Amino acid sequence: MAKSTRSKSNPQSQLRHCSFCNRDERTVNQLIIAPESAFICDECVGACRDILAQGHPLEMFVRPDVPEKRALTPKDITNHMSEWVIGQTDAKRVLSVAVYNHYKRINNPSAGYIELEKSNILLIGPTGCGKTLLAQTLARVLDVPFCIADATSITQAGYVGEDVENILLRLIQAADYDVNRAARGIVYIDEIDKIARKGGDSPSLTRDVSGEGVQQALLKLMEGTVANVPPQGGRKHPHQDFLQLDTRNVLFICGGTFAGLEDVIAKRVGAHKTLGFTTQADGSIADRDYAALLQNVAPEDLVRYGMIPEFMGRLPIMTSIAPLDVAALSRILTEPRNAIVKQFEHLLSYDGVNLVFTDDAIQTAAAEALRRETGARGLRAIVEGVLMDVMYEVPSRSDVKRVIVNADAILHRTRPILENEQGQSLGWGNDSALEQAAA
Ligand SMILES: Nc1ncnc2c1ncn2[C@@H]1O[C@H](COP(=O)(O)OP(=O)(O)O)[C@@H](O)[C@H]1O
Ligand SMILES: [Mg+2]
Repeated sequence: MAKSTRSKSNPQSQLRHCSFCNRDERTVNQLIIAPESAFICDECVGACRDILAQGHPLEMFVRPDVPEKRALTPKDITNHMSEWVIGQTDAKRVLSVAVYNHYKRINNPSAGYIELEKSNILLIGPTGCGKTLLAQTLARVLDVPFCIADATSITQAGYVGEDVENILLRLIQAADYDVNRAARGIVYIDEIDKIARKGGDSPSLTRDVSGEGVQQALLKLMEGTVANVPPQGGRKHPHQDFLQLDTRNVLFICGGTFAGLEDVIAKRVGAHKTLGFTTQADGSIADRDYAALLQNVAPEDLVRYGMIPEFMGRLPIMTSIAPLDVAALSRILTEPRNAIVKQFEHLLSYDGVNLVFTDDAIQTAAAEALRRETGARGLRAIVEGVLMDVMYEVPSRSDVKRVIVNADAILHRTRPILENEQGQSLGWGNDSALEQAAA
């Protein structure tokens, strides 16, 4: 198989590398980006300066001999994650400590007499608040292969659906079929709550069986096994050669919303008394207390919820993520490295247009996303909706130099303000006028 550079062939690895010395952005202090994706780091700029000082017309670049930087500490990992993920401080701390220990264990296989056990992680929290993003970012920061699987699409062997081994195939593909790299990767399994055994009032026997069966099947991968992975995906076939993947060092992160888990926790801790939760007239728990309750989650709550004890035994680390408020949603619009607003600013800059969101507009969009109750997921649709006309009209207008999105544009769907070079407002053409101009 042709060996291509990782950054090209593996979309998961979005780390940028110095084109001169090939060190990645985590290990250099600064990285200068040229058009067409060429990069140079601070060390190599220094080396080039030395070459220039010698004044030879043609000189070979020699990679500067810089001592390898130390491995990332949990704090480094958290800091890097914060470039992409807003808030969720507790989860970041738990995750960064867990992966730091995980890779320490892998890198020091004979670290004394104590057999360090693998610590897979369970992420609990509302939808759209960063569970998948946290796992994805972790893999990016660590530059290890990463894949996402959906627990609902997996079935136990012999039933219709996907075999668990197909998850590992995705991991192997993320590692460009380098099985050794895949063996140190991270697998994120989403919707893990959907394979809970149904208990309580409405036992649905069929779902019971398959949910528990899937937990059993995943259990084997999570505790570590040498799995036979069909290289083409699909069902195992007797005459096929399998890829063998040892999952002992693969880190599994499971995520789920676990709707109703608060009630299970509340029942156990006697919420109202012990922790001072406010119970509403109908007996439910006040919204703002959900996050606090979730922080008290214990394995037994999840067993009561329908996870089998052995499965929970393989997820020794649990952490919850909090719902996002307007302040966090506003920051998500503007701050992360790939923030939605930054993306559209960038997109419109190709048309020579400066895109401006007023602070009001950001706040309003955040409030609107909060109202939709889908976490940060609604933000893109809101911004895209407001910019649709802009993206349609602006490329054919050379007079427009600035587009201003204000709160009205978000709230009342009025069109954003267009301005020319001198800052004067311009009118919106109608489609027929545009078509005439084009004719
Ligand atoms: N804390 C956060 N910081 C930055 N972006 C976020 C955050 N939470 C969610 N998002 C954005 O919202 C979308 C959905 O997030 P995701 O991680 O898939 O949510 P879930 O918790 O349901 O897995 C993604 O596009 C992600 O970029
Ligand atoms: Mg998700």
